[in-house]
Amino acid sequence: MKLFLDTAVYEEIKQGVDWGVVDGVTTNPTLIAKAGHEHEDQVKRICQIIGNVSAEVVSEKRDDMIAEGRRIASWHKNVIVKVPMTPDGIAAGKALAVEGIRVNVTLCFSVNQALLAAAIGAYIVSPFAGRLDDINEDGMRVVADIVSAYRQQGIKTKVLAASIRTPIHVTQAALAGADIATMPFAILKQLFNHPLTEAGQKRFLEDYQRAKAERDTARAGSDGQSKTGRAPETKPTEAPTAKR
Ligand code: E4P
Repeated sequence: MKLFLDTAVYEEIKQGVDWGVVDGVTTNPTLIAKAGHEHEDQVKRICQIIGNVSAEVVSEKRDDMIAEGRRIASWHKNVIVKVPMTPDGIAAGKALAVEGIRVNVTLCFSVNQALLAAAIGAYIVSPFAGRLDDINEDGMRVVADIVSAYRQQGIKTKVLAASIRTPIHVTQAALAGADIATMPFAILKQLFNHPLTEAGQKRFLEDYQRAKAERDTARAGSDGQSKTGRAPETKPTEAPTAKR
């Protein structure tokens, strides 16, 4: 499963890219508004450092969405055009997909909607797990069902688990067989965390420093002895362990 960042903040994306763990980015009008930059400029800037950048149309009618989708696709070869799961969005997505533009159908909440996305040859479908959880439905169950339906039907559209709210969602998306999970930067950072990793790394470094200090002390002692001809005054901190 590929890891995408669900943000339009350049610095967050740059950090994820520098870690070497991020394969793409999803944006939406809300995220672009939060980042506070002009849509085209920001998408082009992000495309300079990473492939697979979803950028969403904001028109509402089919023909307007097609024109806007073509324009967005022309910004950069890394752009994937996001269209909403509405009759106009699906019809526009079909026209764009026929032209060879990669399309991401967003705001998907059911297997049936995912089948519509597949029917137009969408490159990606984005089921929103967290928003389903918000209304007391099992979002990850829907992701798993879409993956299962696609596999049974031999559908190639990629399933992108979106609206990820917790690190557990990421694990669940992987176990459900999702192709991609997109997550806020804060969640990506949490994927690194485990108390045993932190404690283990602390211990390794302490042990290394202690052993180095002991070696340095012993070396300083033997240098002193060779200069004065006398035994070193410093003693090893620990008595040698008796051999059994
Ligand atoms: C995905 O493409 C969307 O941008 C996103 O995952 C929505 O997440 P939210 O429900 O947390 O806003």
